[in-house]
Amino acid sequence: MSTARSSSVWTRLVLRARRVKSSWVKGMLFVAGLSAISLVAAMVVSCASVNRTVQVAPGSPGAKAVGMDTCAACHEKMVENFKSATHARLKAEGDNTLDVGCESCHGGGSIHVDAGGGKGTMINPRKSPEVCFQCHADKRGEFSLPYTHPVLAGKVSCGDCHDPHQGNAVKTGGTALAAQNETCIKCHTAQRGPFVREHEALREGCVICHAPHGSVNAKMLTSRNQTLCLSCHAQQQAASGTIKIGGRDHASFVSRGTCWSAGCHEAVHGSQVNSSLRF
Ligand code: HEC
Ligand code: HEC
Ligand code: HEC
Ligand code: HEC
Ligand code: HEC
Ligand code: HEC
Ligand code: HEC
Repeated sequence: MSTARSSSVWTRLVLRARRVKSSWVKGMLFVAGLSAISLVAAMVVSCASVNRTVQVAPGSPGAKAVGMDTCAACHEKMVENFKSATHARLKAEGDNTLDVGCESCHGGGSIHVDAGGGKGTMINPRKSPEVCFQCHADKRGEFSLPYTHPVLAGKVSCGDCHDPHQGNAVKTGGTALAAQNETCIKCHTAQRGPFVREHEALREGCVICHAPHGSVNAKMLTSRNQTLCLSCHAQQQAASGTIKIGGRDHASFVSRGTCWSAGCHEAVHGSQVNSSLRF
């Protein structure tokens, strides 16, 4: 997909992000040229900015960038709201300034604009995450892990959990964890609660136990066994070889399987009946 694009669309952008993210370093970009030969992107990392060379969104064949001001003529509110968006921080220099903004994800807009707008003349990333992978190359890997949200299969989109158009791209992320959980329970109603016997771990957010993009562990868990639970329920080792958790010796239990195996704490998200999180 990334190689099948027209020459007029190929451009290089240098983007400057305000913050340094470790994922950027991991996700070092390779730039595929017209011949699909990769050139290593130049990366300059300082404590204040990250310069990365990336590929512009594939765009409709033959379309050129027209700049965000042109979009405003018809998508006025979106352009206005975009000022608060995480991706509004992207900056490009010289000839490429038109490419950032809306067209960094939607591709060149000239054909769409000439047609007076309408569907089908502009890339809509809801249908494919490819445009996101151009800059977030590491995410393709995360969504290729054995247990993932079915984004590559087109059943869930990046936009279901991220807002590209306004505010924080991680929807109501940051400190508002309860609100971040809202994003998840919109689809996963069984975990919504309220539970008579709440598991306070959920106050830390679903992502304390689940890797939202993907994981090598079933159910996208951040850890496959009791390590997950013991990260908060630290064990007190007694001299006698007992493993005390919650005041009770668990030595014979932890060898039997996970903490949430049948008969133990299987109601990990909360229980209606049992304070020890059983059904
Ligand atoms: C002349 C008016 C006009 C301009 C200028 C315009 N658009 Fe649109 N755009 C529309 C209309 C009308 C639609 C169809 C809306 C609908 O059907 O809901 C649309 C739809 C879209 C869609 C959805 C396409 C799809 O197939 O799902 C995207 C994305 C989009 N515009 C982005 C942009 C961007 C980015 C720019 C600036 C480069 C832009 N538009 C400029 C009028 C315009
Ligand atoms: C970071 C990438 C990104 C940027 C930048 C971006 N968009 Fe989008 N846009 C998306 C995604 C993703 C979707 C699909 C949303 C979804 O999955 O619900 C979308 C969808 C749309 C749609 C179609 C809405 C619909 O209901 O189908 C329009 C119109 C649109 N964008 C316009 C714009 C305009 C105008 C700008 C600039 C102010 C812009 N976009 C900037 C990623 C982006
Ligand atoms: C042109 C390059 C580019 C494209 C295309 C792009 N992004 Fe980004 N994105 C960035 C950069 C750079 C940042 C870092 C901004 C910062 O950290 O200040 C970012 C930040 C983010 C963040 C927030 C990270 C955080 O920790 O707050 C999310 C989520 C995100 N992007 C999702 C997406 C999705 C989803 C798409 C596709 C619809 C997309 N991006 C397309 C360059 C891009
Ligand atoms: C099921 C929901 C969900 C989907 C789908 C999803 N994300 Fe995320 N993403 C999250 C959550 C939640 C976080 C915040 C993680 C945290 O706080 O630990 C996040 C964080 C991020 C970040 C910033 C932190 C990092 O890991 O670099 C980026 C960038 C990002 N996502 C990009 C994407 C892209 C690109 C896609 C689509 C290919 C996507 N996400 C699909 C839920 C999702
Ligand atoms: C747009 C709907 C949607 C959103 C939002 C969403 N998910 Fe999912 N989730 C799905 C779908 C679809 C599957 C795949 C179900 C399947 O394969 O049977 C899934 C699977 C999962 C699974 C694995 C379930 C299993 O049986 O293996 C977990 C865990 C999960 N999601 C957690 C989360 C978390 C945490 C969030 C919030 C960061 C979230 N989901 C947001 C739709 C969503
Ligand atoms: C304390 C850790 C923890 C937290 C926090 C957590 N989960 Fe889970 N979740 C688990 C474990 C463990 C499993 C596997 C249970 C099993 O296999 O029986 C699981 C399984 C799931 C499943 C698959 C359900 C099934 O029937 O197989 C979904 C969906 C899910 N979690 C969503 C969520 C959502 C949404 C949130 C936030 C509201 C959340 N989880 C918070 C530990 C957690
Ligand atoms: C993010 C931290 C965190 C994680 C991870 C976590 N818990 Fe908890 N858990 C808590 C807190 C906080 C409480 C309430 C205070 C307490 O009882 O220790 C609690 C309470 C419990 C209780 C109720 C104790 C009682 O008798 O009242 C059980 C059972 C439990 N957790 C099991 C688990 C299991 C099983 C896992 C792994 C799937 C797990 N926890 C993972 C934080 C966590």
